[in-house]
Formats: sequence, C-alpha cells, structure tokens
Amino acid sequence: MYEPRLLDSVQSSQEAISEGLELPETSPDGRIVTLNNHGAMKLGAVFAITTTKFIEIASTPGTTVLDIGAAYGETCLEALRRGATDYTANDIEPRHLKILARRVAEDLPSKLPNLKLISGGIPHPKFNDFIPTSSLDAVLLDSILHFLDPVQVTEALHQIFSWLKPGGKVFALMGTINLAVFKSEVREGLERDVKTFVETVKTQGQIDPKDIPGFTSNVSEDFDFSICPKETLEAQFNFSDGRFFRFHLETAKYLFETAGFIIEEIVYTPINTFPYKLNGKERVAVFAKKP
Ligand SMILES: C[S@@+](CC[C@H](N)C(=O)[O-])C[C@H]1O[C@@H](n2cnc3c(N)ncnc32)[C@H](O)[C@@H]1O
Repeated sequence: MYEPRLLDSVQSSQEAISEGLELPETSPDGRIVTLNNHGAMKLGAVFAITTTKFIEIASTPGTTVLDIGAAYGETCLEALRRGATDYTANDIEPRHLKILARRVAEDLPSKLPNLKLISGGIPHPKFNDFIPTSSLDAVLLDSILHFLDPVQVTEALHQIFSWLKPGGKVFALMGTINLAVFKSEVREGLERDVKTFVETVKTQGQIDPKDIPGFTSNVSEDFDFSICPKETLEAQFNFSDGRFFRFHLETAKYLFETAGFIIEEIVYTPINTFPYKLNGKERVAVFAKKP
C-alpha cells in the first residue's frame, strides 16, 4: 500500500489550483468517477445510512473522526458545514485530497483549520505515526473495503480498532456478491462458498483470512456481458486493477467481529441503478463499535 503522508490542507488547496485539479464532470447518474479508477463518488446524492450516522457524530462539537477513502470529500464538506471541528480525510490518491482541500477552501474557508489530510493506502503501519491509539470517536469506510483482499481488510480493521476510543464507532458500506454485473453462476458459486465458510467457522471457530470467500484479482472475468457491452460494463464499474472483494453479510460480520468490534447493526442495502440492481442486497452496511 502507498505509504501514508500528512498533507497540509492550505498548501493542498493551493496545489490543486496550480496543478489545475478540480472536480471532474458529473455523469448523468450523479456519480463522479475517481481519478485512479477506484469506482466513483456520489455527488449531492442522499447519503447512505452509514454515512448519515457518521456525519451526526462528526458534526458533534469536540469529536475527532476519520473518513477513509474520502475521494473528493462530499461527506467531509457536509460534516464541516454542519460544524465538524476535527475531521481527517484520507485517500490513497493524493489528487483527490487536493481537490477536497480546494473545495473546502472555496466553499468553507473558515473550516480549513478543522481539516487534516492523510494520503496513503490503508492498511499501513505508518498510519500509526499520525493517528494515535484510542483517539477517534468514529471512522467511515464508505465504498472502500471492497478494494482490499480479506487479509488486508483484517489488517485494516485491526488498525481502525486500535485508533478508536472505547465506545467509538465504525460505519462501513461495501459491495456484495449480489451485483447484477456478475454472472449468475458466479453469484451462486460464491453463495455456496459462503455457506461452507460459515460451517467451517462453526466447527473450527476461526479461519485463515486468505480463505474467506469473495475476493477476485480479475473482476471482469466474472462479468455478465449479456447485460451490456464489455466496454460499457468495464467503464461503468471502473476498477482498472481488477481487484474486488465481493462481501456477504456473513463474511462482513466475521471480519468485524474477529477484529474485536461489537456489531450494532448489519443490513443489506440496495443499489437501484443499472447495471448493479439485482435483489436489494447489492451492498452491506455495518454499524459497529469498539467495546
Ligand atoms: C468508490 S470511492 C468512494 C468515495 C467516497 N467514500 C464515497 O462513498 O463517495 C473509493 C475511494 O477510496 C479510495 N481508496 C481505494 N483504496 C484505498 C485504500 N487502500 N486506502 C485509502 N483509500 C483508498 C479511492 O482512491 C477512492 O477515492
């Protein structure tokens, strides 16, 4: 993973201007594609249920929060607008954070001192240099964990657990095996693999994270090109490196619980747009806390 670095928010906003970095155009479905082909950020959309809960905590005076995979900062801007005073935005792509800083500088200039930026990919031990143990009230993982493999998710959740205060919360939203982009036999095969995984965990108690089902390093191999042409589907999905971890409620539950979290709620939530819409279980939302 890319080594984490602290970025100065004022300098980053200025660099965005000098480097000509600004929000890319919004597509007709309200999404803005990422600069590094890691999916898209929703702009001006209704926030996901996990994000809404995170914003509530983030905008409570005196709280310290971290938004991992913040992209161009739609959630961050909303939280700052509502009064957030200590907001750290992270992204693996520094240009996203520069654009985020530019947006804050242009729309909410008095809030720049309340914004910290850390570029770099989670998990990485160097994040611990910037984020003290037991320092955070809440962490947001909105559409980012599915870029990691299950071993990396395990490491990331252990890091996040250590950064949260006791009682601190994590809110996560991930893509699942239930996306219409996947061939039906792939979805059915993954569903069977998850059943076997659940049985193994029941009998053995634990499983090696690398054996948790759902990850692929070549996602387009599993696409159903009968729903739309290959180029359209690959462009829509926008995962250039092909890595994608298809979560399931059971695998998400296992990963958060083995990291030490208490799950307060875990539910499937729908994506209602083509080419993802399938059965209302396209994403899984996790609300968890550190005991
Ligand atoms: C699909 S976008 C989601 C953006 C935003 N959270 C939202 O929901 O609108 C995923 C973002 O996560 C970032 N990302 C991907 N892998 C990451 C990692 N390992 N660590 C930090 N950020 C990462 C990408 O650069 C991208 O900006």
